[in-house]
Amino acid sequence: MRSPPFLDPRTSSVSEGFDPELSMMAVRPPIFPVSTYAFPSAEEAARYFEVALGKIAAETSSPVGLIYARLNHPNAEMFEDGLRSVERGAAAAAAFTSGMAAITSTVMTLAKPGQKLLYQRPVYGGTDHFFRHMLPEWNIEAIAVDDGGWDEALARHHATLGLVYLETPANPTLHMIDLDAVRAGIDRAVPDRHVQLLVDNTFLGPVFQSPLEHGADVVLYSATKFLGGHSDLVAGAVAARDPAVISRIKTTRAFFGTICEPFTAWMLQRSMATLWLRMTKQSKNATKLVSMLSAHPAVERVHHPSLFTGDQARIFRSQCRAPGSMIAIELRGGRPAAFRFLNALRLVRLAVSLGGVESLACHPRTTTASEMSEEDLRASGVTDGLVRLSVGVEHWRDLAQDLARALDAAS
Ligand SMILES: Cc1ncc(COP(=O)(O)O)c(C=O)c1O
Repeated sequence: MRSPPFLDPRTSSVSEGFDPELSMMAVRPPIFPVSTYAFPSAEEAARYFEVALGKIAAETSSPVGLIYARLNHPNAEMFEDGLRSVERGAAAAAAFTSGMAAITSTVMTLAKPGQKLLYQRPVYGGTDHFFRHMLPEWNIEAIAVDDGGWDEALARHHATLGLVYLETPANPTLHMIDLDAVRAGIDRAVPDRHVQLLVDNTFLGPVFQSPLEHGADVVLYSATKFLGGHSDLVAGAVAARDPAVISRIKTTRAFFGTICEPFTAWMLQRSMATLWLRMTKQSKNATKLVSMLSAHPAVERVHHPSLFTGDQARIFRSQCRAPGSMIAIELRGGRPAAFRFLNALRLVRLAVSLGGVESLACHPRTTTASEMSEEDLRASGVTDGLVRLSVGVEHWRDLAQDLARALDAAS
């Protein structure tokens, strides 16, 4: 690549990872809908496989070309280079076929049978299901921790601790976790080895939060959300401080078959060029809406980082650059009021998922978080009256009007 080093992410997100000289001087990346790649010779084919299977360390060998699109392909590589360039602290990245593929492939790479995984609840419902119902089948126990419980949990499980997994802000409550404090707690409890800290950064993205600069080792994304940004693809991504960790995760990806396919990787790379514009506009829109929402009599409480007080406000200031565009509102009148509100929306669509250019609303208790246990729901504050909003790029006044009218209908 000829691009100068240390570009601002708003610049590198536009074209990092793409070299026109490798693509007939096209100014934007082409798609490579190709399953298999020709080798220059049989000897080189044998060497490529030795490197790909880890029999020769990639660093000690001259570069290898592409083999087969389940292992690697140009569109995934271009997106990964772009993500690495904007994720502060990242040395390498990997693209996946969904956020869940990124999470499951990464956890299955880094945790071993007999170990414990500590996570702070709530986490996204799919992650919660994987942790509580699937990991035990592989003899990995996932243990939920609440605010203030970290020292005790780390003291109790330090000997068998394999991984720590955090989602901040959490889906759907927007609760934030102090990453530096959890990292320091892990290092105090386990001084003799490095325990990997994984952070799902889907809600704030590389634009507003850089977990790798706050003690995390691996950052995970549902790229379906803000990275893709148009509700027209499903994908996932992982970035890490240590390139060897990404190499191990990519080996798992090759055998699980969870690489993002070329067309989706191409769409993702195209979306990265507008990531800063979209997320900045969406965050500003959300911040404008929260005062109207807070003032409405049908609303009991609004959760948005711009309204945080006390310790949550301190965490927000210390590790985030903007509040983002996810809002959770608690309606007076519980589930019936929440359903009346959702059914009355006209502009904001009633749908799961988030982070797209269009605004969406959903009722987590009966949809994305419906499989969480009663205890987890109570401990996490996922109430019957809670509605999650993902604010898009529309004009905020139109959104305000739609939300106010639907709140009137819910009262
Ligand atoms: C915070 C978070 N992480 C992970 C996921 C899973 O991503 P995907 O649906 O792309 O598999 C989601 C999906 O909603 C999510 O909200």
